Amino acid sequence: MEKDRKALEEKLKEWFEWFHRNPELSYEEYETTEKIRSILEQEGIEVLPCELETGLVAIVRGEERGPVQALRCDIDALPIEEESGLPYSSGIAGKMHACGHDFHIIAGIGCAILAQEQRERLKGDVKIIFQPGEETSLGALKILETDVMDDVEKIWGIHADPTNQVGVLGISGGYVTAAVDRFVIELRGVGCHGAHPDDGADPVPAAAAMVQALQTIVTRNVNPFHPALISVTRIQAGNTWNVIPETAELEGTVRTMDKEDRALFERRIREIARHTAAAFGINASVRWIAGSPATYNDGEMADYAVKTAEEYGFCVVPEESSLGGDDFSFFEEKIPGCYLKIGTGRGQTIHQPGFRVDRSVILPAAEYLCVLLLGGDSWRKL
Ligand code: NI
Repeated sequence: MEKDRKALEEKLKEWFEWFHRNPELSYEEYETTEKIRSILEQEGIEVLPCELETGLVAIVRGEERGPVQALRCDIDALPIEEESGLPYSSGIAGKMHACGHDFHIIAGIGCAILAQEQRERLKGDVKIIFQPGEETSLGALKILETDVMDDVEKIWGIHADPTNQVGVLGISGGYVTAAVDRFVIELRGVGCHGAHPDDGADPVPAAAAMVQALQTIVTRNVNPFHPALISVTRIQAGNTWNVIPETAELEGTVRTMDKEDRALFERRIREIARHTAAAFGINASVRWIAGSPATYNDGEMADYAVKTAEEYGFCVVPEESSLGGDDFSFFEEKIPGCYLKIGTGRGQTIHQPGFRVDRSVILPAAEYLCVLLLGGDSWRKL
C-alpha cells in the first residue's frame, strides 16, 4: 500500500510537470483536456460525454447510496512570461500556470484515482469537473450550460495558496471571494482646438471629476462594515496635444461581497456618470458588465472540511477573504459549496512570474480531497 502510494505520488508529480510545461490560455485548453482525458482513460476512470469545447467531466460511481458531489478544478493558464527558474518551467513563450491551476488539475486527477480505488466505500457518485476559462470569470457557465450539474447536491472547490506552507489549509464559512463586476463609462462632449476650449465641451475634466466622485461610493454610500471597492483602471481620451477630444472613456472594476451593495454600485455609478456629465455640459453612458457573484462557503460543509482536515493532520487556519473573485460562485447559486485554500509553499503570489507550487503538496491534497468526498472517518483507512 505504502509502495503503491509512493508510485502514485511519482506519477502525479510527473504529470504535474507536464501540465506546468504546457500552459494554455482560457478556452484554448485543447492539449490540456486531451492530456487529462488520456490519463483518466489509462487509470480506468470514466469520462462523461458532454458538449464541451475544452475541459471535461470525470465520474467515479460510488457503490454505496449517497448524494452526488462534485469537485471543481479549473485548468487554464495566464498570459505571463514565467520567471520561476523551475527546471520544468513553461515551454510556451508568454504563457504560464501562474495561478496554480496545473496543481488543481493534478489534485483532481489524484483524487479521482484514489476515489476510484475506494469506490466500494464511496457513498454516491463524484463528478470531477475540469473547468475551462476560469481566468475569464465566466468559464463555470460553460459547465452549467451542460446538464452535468443537474443531479449534483454539493460542490467542493480548491485554490493554491502561496501565503501558506504545505500542510496548512485555509477554510472558513461565509463569504470568501468577491463579486467581480466591470463597468465602462463613455463620455461624449464636443471636440475643438486646444487653444479654444470655449468652442467645445471638454470630456477630460468631466472624466477626472468622475474618477474622484466614484470613490465616494465606497466612503459615503456603502455600509462601512461591508468590504467593497471600486478601481478605475483605464482612462482614455484624445490622441494629440493641441486638440480637445470629443470623447473620453473610463473603465474599471467593482468588488463586493453583499448582493445589495452590488446593486447599489451599479445604481450609483449610473447616477454619478449622468449627473457629473451634465454638470460639465456633456453626455455619458454606462455599460455595467456583470461577472461572477461572491463565493459563499456553506457553514456545515466548511465545518466538516475543517474537522476532516484536522483529523487528517493538516493545520487549519481561517481562510483570508479576498476581493479577488472566482467563478466557482456560479455553481453556488444553485447548490451549496465550499471553496478551500491549500497551502502550496510560501513565495510570490498568484499571477506573478515567479509563482511556484511545492510539489510535495500534491499527494496529501489529493488524499485529503478524496477523504472529504468519502465522508465520515474514512481517512483512517485510506
Ligand atoms: Ni486561480
